[in-house]
Amino acid sequence: MSNKDTKTKDIAINNLTVDYITKLGTLTAVENISFEVLEGKSIGVVGESGSGKSTLGLALIKSLPHNGIVRSGNIKINDKDISKIQEKEFDEVYRWKEIAMIFQGSMNSLDPVFSIEKQMKEILKVHRIKDGGTYDSAIKKALSAVGLDPEKTTKRYPHELSGGMKQRIVIANSLLLEPSILIADEPTTALDVITQAQIIGLLKKMKDTKKMKIIIITHDLSLIPSLVDKVMIMYAGQAVEISDIKTILDNPLHPYTQALIKSIPHINSAKKPIQFILGNTPNLLNIKKGCRFRDRCPHAFGMCENDPPDIHIESNIVKCWLYDKEIKVTKN
Ligand SMILES: Nc1ncnc2c1ncn2[C@@H]1O[C@H](COP(=O)(O)OP(=O)(O)OP(=O)(O)O)[C@@H](O)[C@H]1O
Ligand code: SF4
Ligand SMILES: [Mg+2]
Repeated sequence: MSNKDTKTKDIAINNLTVDYITKLGTLTAVENISFEVLEGKSIGVVGESGSGKSTLGLALIKSLPHNGIVRSGNIKINDKDISKIQEKEFDEVYRWKEIAMIFQGSMNSLDPVFSIEKQMKEILKVHRIKDGGTYDSAIKKALSAVGLDPEKTTKRYPHELSGGMKQRIVIANSLLLEPSILIADEPTTALDVITQAQIIGLLKKMKDTKKMKIIIITHDLSLIPSLVDKVMIMYAGQAVEISDIKTILDNPLHPYTQALIKSIPHINSAKKPIQFILGNTPNLLNIKKGCRFRDRCPHAFGMCENDPPDIHIESNIVKCWLYDKEIKVTKN
């Protein structure tokens, strides 16, 4: 068994807070987020546009835009706090080698003037893999892992590939250096439903066979039940519920999660109107005290003007006053 096979690296995020400095002020895009992913497990990060999903992913791979900063908290890979290490060490030891990310929309940014082979070799070069002799075998391995025939694929250009094939190439690129943790940011956007299911199936295979830890970011909860063990629901930068997938689907606790579930269209109930979540997410530059969902919440009550605590119910977490034991007693 190779060294790589014996590694059991986990990722644990503790109270992570990420700010963006803008001309209009500082906004907190990710606030006090904590979760972990163990070997062979996966978590879905779900929420509306602007809830902070990509910011979280970019922070985990230390690739925030120039105006983004990790204000507090830490990110541990196998107990090593990578938020504190220098860029050089992160690049040499972790980025792409231990933790890789499929960036949002990256299948549309494959370079149109270079063949797939050239682009994949470039990634290996940029990440300072010195032995050119291993390039071909690494490329072959990564393409085969995503179900593409290396012989038929390497000489082709992006415009010669379907959307599904391009997305597979992007996934293959992320696998080139055999990371143990993969962040997939909206990997199925703009694909048809059959290709979406194939991509999710592919990620599941990687989780099951390679024991990868997968963090999948999506706004579409209906896509991921077969892939994830846990789901973190994000709203306006906060994790409002972290539960196992069964609880999320069968007994969602947070009113926002409940509304998200109700807004999923079902083919068998085509005649029923889709239930939208009325209103908008709050402006992150002007966050008021209290529950961030309260202007849209059908259950809001007086206490919701105070920031809700994280309430632990068995191994799940919900950020809502409805589940506070004392409040529950008073309300009943
Ligand atoms: N570079 C930046 N500078 C300032 N604000 C930013 C920057 N990038 C993102 N934001 C803001 O941070 C918040 C979170 O953005 P983010 O892209 O993480 O959301 P998201 O959940 O990934 O959304 P989507 O589903 O649309 O991809 C948003 O309010 C966004 O406008
Ligand atoms: S804390 Fe209050 S406003 Fe917020 S989700 Fe719970 S009930 Fe609704
Ligand atoms: Mg995003």
